Amino acid sequence: MHQLKTDLVVTSPGRINLIGEHTDYNDGFVLPAAIDKVIILKLGKNGTTNECRIQSEGFGEVVHIDLGNIAKSNNDWENYILGVLHELILLTDKLRGFDCSIESHLPIGSGVSSSAALECGLAFGLNELFGLGLTKWDIIQLSQRAEHNYVGTKCGIMDQFASVMGKDEQVMLLDCKTLAFEYIPVNIEPYRILMLNTNVKHNLAFGEYNVRREQCQQGLTIVGNKFQIGGTFRNVTMQMLDDCKKEMEDVIYNRCSYVVQENQRVLEAVAALRANKMETFGELLYQTHKGLSEQFEVSCPELDFLVDFSKNWEEVLGARMMGGGFGGCTLNIVHKEAIASFVKEAGKVYKEKFSLELSAFQTVPSKGTSILKRNG
Ligand code: GLA
Repeated sequence: MHQLKTDLVVTSPGRINLIGEHTDYNDGFVLPAAIDKVIILKLGKNGTTNECRIQSEGFGEVVHIDLGNIAKSNNDWENYILGVLHELILLTDKLRGFDCSIESHLPIGSGVSSSAALECGLAFGLNELFGLGLTKWDIIQLSQRAEHNYVGTKCGIMDQFASVMGKDEQVMLLDCKTLAFEYIPVNIEPYRILMLNTNVKHNLAFGEYNVRREQCQQGLTIVGNKFQIGGTFRNVTMQMLDDCKKEMEDVIYNRCSYVVQENQRVLEAVAALRANKMETFGELLYQTHKGLSEQFEVSCPELDFLVDFSKNWEEVLGARMMGGGFGGCTLNIVHKEAIASFVKEAGKVYKEKFSLELSAFQTVPSKGTSILKRNG
């Protein structure tokens, strides 16, 4: 272990999303929250102009980065860091050499967005350390660009937004078109948010995400040629899609109709949450899963199996796959008294079917990226 310098400790959370999947890059609505599972970053100025030393638990040796010579790496996790440094250098000349050690308590590849937690935590910490004067929105958007430009996923804004803006016991309704948002208290007693991690991440995930984005864009172009929609998916209706159906391939129609319907579901889910109509809320989650599985086609057998299994339990109000898809977690709304037996049974049948371990964790909406401690 090298002795790295620590001036401040940053905590940066993963996120869940109650509803509104694959809507963020379509100018739609999402309902995410930061969670109580985090990445911890210890950061310190090391007195050099350009030399950065990064240590990540689990990756062993220290990685050296020269701020004067930032380029993409073949190593995925390094690209999250390099991408953030690249974006920061474009915005400021105040960055100097630093040490950073990273400790993750987030299951990687499980769809709770360890990547956004890392990007935002690093950007947030360096902003504090060097007084860069960036706002929270600067941090959110530069982290998203880092992912586009260095990692190659053309992600939306949801994950970075949720990680930075989270608040205890609140979910956030974000309008991804205007970036207006509001906090909504989550009082779902006697229910809990339970995540079931399939522990699979199918290879498809990476490229297919960008393919979905392009397909939505294609549909938007076709609708835009016929109707005045101001270039935004937000103005697309089911009627318009039906009127354009002959001009688009079925697959494009399916992707686009999912997005239009999912936006509507987010608004209905928010109304249900506010009125404490938890059965309605749960039903909407099941509808979302069906849409993601059949129309958007980003689910996988493991996720479908868990969602179907949950339907046998009256103590489970709703369940769906969460995040980009092709693996990761299902999100379940479960009565607190049934959690232990539900987890046990789900684990048993899942193992019988797929010869894989299922992992489960409960989570609650929690605060966003913040300083845990300052030295000196
Ligand atoms: C990933 C992306 C997000 C969002 C979700 C799907 O997590 O990073 O921007 O598109 O998938 O809702």
